[in-house]
Formats: sequence, structure tokens, C-alpha cells
Amino acid sequence: MNKIIVLKSRPERTPQSDNFKFIEEATPEAGENEVLLKTKYISVDPYLRGRMRDEESYIPPFKVGEPIESMLVAEVTESNNSNYKKGDFVSGMLAWKEYQSIHPKQLNKLDKDLAPLSAYLGILGLTGLTAHLALKHIGKPKNGETLVVSGAAGAVGSIAGQIGKIKGCRVVGTAGTDEKVNQITKEFGFDEGINYKTTENMQKVLAKKCPDGIDVYFDNVGGEILDAVLQNINKFARIINCGAISLYNKKEVPTGPRPEGILIKKSALMQGFLVRNHAQEYEEAIKELAGWLKTGKLKYDETIVKGFENTPGAFIDLFEGKNKGKMIVEL
Ligand SMILES: NC(=O)c1ccc[n+]([C@@H]2O[C@H](COP(=O)([O-])OP(=O)(O)OC[C@H]3O[C@@H](n4cnc5c(N)ncnc54)[C@H](OP(=O)(O)O)[C@@H]3O)[C@@H](O)[C@H]2O)c1
Repeated sequence: MNKIIVLKSRPERTPQSDNFKFIEEATPEAGENEVLLKTKYISVDPYLRGRMRDEESYIPPFKVGEPIESMLVAEVTESNNSNYKKGDFVSGMLAWKEYQSIHPKQLNKLDKDLAPLSAYLGILGLTGLTAHLALKHIGKPKNGETLVVSGAAGAVGSIAGQIGKIKGCRVVGTAGTDEKVNQITKEFGFDEGINYKTTENMQKVLAKKCPDGIDVYFDNVGGEILDAVLQNINKFARIINCGAISLYNKKEVPTGPRPEGILIKKSALMQGFLVRNHAQEYEEAIKELAGWLKTGKLKYDETIVKGFENTPGAFIDLFEGKNKGKMIVEL
């Protein structure tokens, strides 16, 4: 039998395991022009929390009783499509199922000799693309500038900080444990790290760690860290609103300090970013990321959780910061 994970109910606050349900169906066969895929890796991502709300967004919400979907890496085990053969590996936005038969028009073929397959969900997937393209289009870091990255030991943040170093910036990251702070400075080459959970006055600590002020802020978390960064920005600063995980589980979004005064005073830019708006640039950007990876300019970490049955738990653990680098489930 084929196992599938569906959304059982919409989370009220932090997602819980009983918001998910496992169901079984007969294992499918490849239909006409289709390929049968066996899931190998599942990407669990903070933005899936948004799709669990019954709200209009840039992507439709999940339906209760229907499978969750995210980026997957899968192996072709049967093919009725002349472009694919048994043994090919692909990635795509697919359902949380052990097996699925689909028409391959939305799939990307993967080169398993270029990088380990899990990397196509991280550094060579939407994670790397987000870090790279958000900096390219909004952050525009210049040699000698100061870049602050929140969620700095996470999938996107750890890559964003390293790209900042490639561009010649002083890079300061915030993360939720001393171990993570140690990792970003020792392994990923950040100049400074701040444990936001043990920092009482973030505004003051940022001022100390960024003596020349902040030129670019890569925001993965929103909320109070953003408030503190805004108090330290330079003239013509660029703020990338990439993610706001500190707010994703709030029933009501808290009202923080209003940013408009400081943005005007500093002639600063604050802009939302969605990687999917840049799909036409993926191929080129992945080539660049792969080049940096090959020459050792970029490193990545991943937290691999084993077992399809642990997929909801791995997703929930993102909100506890249990991952270092990209959180991935391996089947
Ligand atoms: N706009 C786009 O196109 C796009 C694309 C991909 C991702 N994103 C966004 O980018 C952000 C990072 O995504 P990711 O996939 O790289 O995830 P990630 O950073 O690998 O994992 C989430 C991390 O968030 C931190 N976190 C959890 N709750 C927090 C809180 N209340 N306050 C501060 N930090 C908290 C945790 O680290 P700590 O231990 O440090 O707390 C956790 O490890 C997310 O907000 C995501 O939605 C946006």
C-alpha cells in the first residue's frame, strides 16, 4: 500500500502532529505519458505553515483532507514517457506520498554526479536561489558594506551570509543557540554571531557588532529582530523581507514600532521578496551557486530526518529551531 500525508485540520498556532493524518491507497502504476515516482527526499519549509491557513496568498492554501505538497526529490521507477527512463532522479512540487504517478511536465531532471541529491532541495534548490536572488535584486551588497542576516544558521540564512562574504561584506548573523552562532562564525565565515534568545537588548548589541551601521538586512524572521535592525540602518540601506517565521504561528500579528519614520529618514528600501517571481533566472543562478560550491566558496549543512512517518515532526521542529541548515526528510 502507498502511504500519503494529508492535512487533517488547520493549525491554530504552532502546528501539532494531530493536524496531519496518514492514509493509505493502492500503489499506483504509471499512466499514459506519465512516470511513476518513488519519493527519496522531502523538503519541509516554514512557508508551508502559510498554506495551512484558509487564506488567499501567492499560492493556494492546502485543502483539509488533501495531501500536503512541497519540493521533493524522487526516483523514476516506471516510465511511459520517452523523455524519462527508470532510474532517473527528478525534483518538483509534489505530494507527500511514497509513490505517485504524474505527467513529468513540471519536473526537473537532476544530475546526481554534480551534487548529492539532497542538495537539490537546499543549496541547489529554492533555498540557494532565494538567498542568491534576493541579494541580487534587493540587497545588492557592495564590498565593505555591513550585511545582517537573521535565521543565520538556517537553510536560506547560512547561504545568504556566505554570499555576503563573497561580495566582500562584513556579515553578522542572528541565530537561536550558541552552537549555531559558533557554526556560522567558524564554519561559514560570518564575522560575528548573536544568540537572539540570550540577548536582552538586540538594538544595543547590533550597534556594537556593526560599528559602521547596517547597509543590508536579510530578514528571515521579522518581528522584534527587524525592529532592532531598523534602529541601526545606514542611509540608503536595503531590507529584504524574505521571511517572518517569528510571526507565522501568531493568531494575531502584533503591532511593532512603525517603520515609516526611519525608512524616510534613512532613504531606505524595504521590499518583500518571493523567489517564484524569478523563475526565468533559476538556471543561470543555479550555475553560479554550483560554481561557488565547487570552488569551496559556499558550504552548506543539512539536517536529515529519516522515515516518511517523521515528516510532520520534521516540519514542526522548524519552529523550535531544531534544524541546522536545510531540514530534509529521507525515505
Ligand atoms: N520569500 C521567499 O521566496 C522564501 C523562500 C524560502 C524561504 N523563505 C523564508 O525564509 C525563512 C527561512 O527559511 P528556511 O527554509 O531557510 O528555514 P530555516 O531557517 O532553515 O528554518 C527555520 C529557522 O527559523 C528559526 N526560527 C524559528 N522560530 C523562530 C522565531 N520565533 N524567531 C526567530 N527565529 C525563529 C529557527 O532557527 P533558530 O534556532 O535560529 O531560532 C529555525 O531553524 C523563512 O521565514 C521562510 O519562510 C522565503
